[in-house]
Amino acid sequence: MVIKLDEVVISGLTKNFDDLTAVDHIELNVPKGSIYGLLGPNGAGKSTTIRLLCTLLRPDDGTATVSGLDILESPVQVREITGILPEEGNHTLYQTLSAYDNLDYFARLYDVPEAEIPERIEELLTFMDLWERKDDPAGELSTGNRQRLALCRALLHKPKVLLLDEPTAALDPVAAKRVRELILRFSEKYGQTFFINSHNLSEVQRMCDKIAIIDEGKILLSGDTQELRTRFQTSQDFRIRVVDDLEKAGSIAESLDFVTSLKKEADTIVVTIEDPFTNNSTLMQSLLSQGIKLVEFAEEEATLEDLYLDVIKGGAK
Ligand SMILES: Nc1ncnc2c1ncn2[C@@H]1O[C@H](COP(=O)(O)OP(=O)(O)OP(=O)(O)O)[C@@H](O)[C@H]1O
Ligand SMILES: [Mg+2]
Repeated sequence: MVIKLDEVVISGLTKNFDDLTAVDHIELNVPKGSIYGLLGPNGAGKSTTIRLLCTLLRPDDGTATVSGLDILESPVQVREITGILPEEGNHTLYQTLSAYDNLDYFARLYDVPEAEIPERIEELLTFMDLWERKDDPAGELSTGNRQRLALCRALLHKPKVLLLDEPTAALDPVAAKRVRELILRFSEKYGQTFFINSHNLSEVQRMCDKIAIIDEGKILLSGDTQELRTRFQTSQDFRIRVVDDLEKAGSIAESLDFVTSLKKEADTIVVTIEDPFTNNSTLMQSLLSQGIKLVEFAEEEATLEDLYLDVIKGGAK
């Protein structure tokens, strides 16, 4: 039996700023090797949670352990095994130093053994597709490249846990996708634990095995991404293609009372159904039993949007 330990365990963690409780007795378990998404609107307490975990802030109540080390009892050791990409990640770089020299400087600061530094920097810059930019000053890199350099900086000392505060927030969609791919590839290759703040639903959905939703400092919901999506999803689209009689397939679908809408596209119909986990097989059976030959019967990718808006009443604040 493989026992997967929790790499980060948060117990009753609380932070007040005067009379505002930014993080309010939160409890979370982050399994080792997972990519965990903390999702919430502006001001929810996401960055404060990350600052507490990397010991930049001290909690007013509760605590957390990172790889078994308590953030209150062993802050120095916690810092040694965590890598952080702060909210304004690229502001942590020296803009006039080259990409290489930035990493060299931080590697020394993190006490990476001298002899390992060049190899480590080359490995990371190559991994992040930045090796050819190694001599460019950080300030002259594009925002996407700077963010990737900031990620290299966070990864320099081979941390067990990566705390990434909105890693793609300032990036265009292409650069954001690239950063997501690199994080996924890195996690696959090295198996580190990632804890990622985001208010981007689709990002969390694409990257994270587990999510928690936070609002006004409180965890409203947490669990497996897939399981939460299934639990809260009230309707879903199915894409249907058939051998010949698309019109007939459309009218069969429309006759079912759980079908709430139907769109025709060139050779496809897209059918929205309520209670998809009960009704999708009924829809398929109805089509097949009336002689429709299916070429495709595919779920459209479900989203966390309903879940998010349901949980955070009134949407982002
Ligand atoms: N140093 C501070 N002093 C006073 N209040 C603070 C401080 N840091 C955060 N806050 C407040 O705590 C609350 C939570 O802030 P936090 O930065 O953790 O939110 P967030 O979820 O990261 O939001 P965003 O999506 O905007 O980054 C907010 O109301 C914020 O104004
Ligand atoms: Mg924040």
